[in-house]
Amino acid sequence: MANERQFKLKSLLVGTRGVAEYRASIEKYVTSDDCILEIGCEWGTTSELIHKKCKNLMATDISLKCIERARIMRPKIQFEVLDVFDIRTALSFKMAFNKMYIDVSGLSGYRSLLDVIALTDMYASVFPMEAIIVKSGAVKNFAKRCIEWKGILN
Ligand SMILES: C[S@@+](CC[C@H](N)C(=O)[O-])C[C@H]1O[C@@H](n2cnc3c(N)ncnc32)[C@H](O)[C@@H]1O
Repeated sequence: MANERQFKLKSLLVGTRGVAEYRASIEKYVTSDDCILEIGCEWGTTSELIHKKCKNLMATDISLKCIERARIMRPKIQFEVLDVFDIRTALSFKMAFNKMYIDVSGLSGYRSLLDVIALTDMYASVFPMEAIIVKSGAVKNFAKRCIEWKGILN
């Protein structure tokens, strides 16, 4: 059920289609002052691009194997295991994340749209998120078709 708190969230949800768009968005959204949570980092290809612009990065993945490999390949970046659905562990990092990159297998199709919105709203309600960049063609397409009703005169 909808509640007023949910409607007060101000964080921007940016839908990107494919990994090229996802990574291209770093140029626009990442600054050196940010504190970034990346979810679904695999072995850190995108993490490295984010890290070039922002050192305050926590790159995460559900797979311990990926995280172990990422740590070996990119020792300057902080990598931790995190299941996107386990927000308690995200809170345990004790970082005030203001931007999030999310590329999790299984969450990019149309059927996952509600899951993505619920998940990103959950993160936006506990962290001071300004922008959440998600690799999801479905979110991008949905966003293109939406406008906010502002009344007859607007
Ligand atoms: C397409 S890969 C990510 C590629 C990476 N973002 C990049 O740019 O190179 C998707 C990743 O999502 C991770 N993943 C799948 N389910 C997850 C979950 N529930 N929580 C966090 N990561 C998850 C997988 O282990 C996999 O590494």
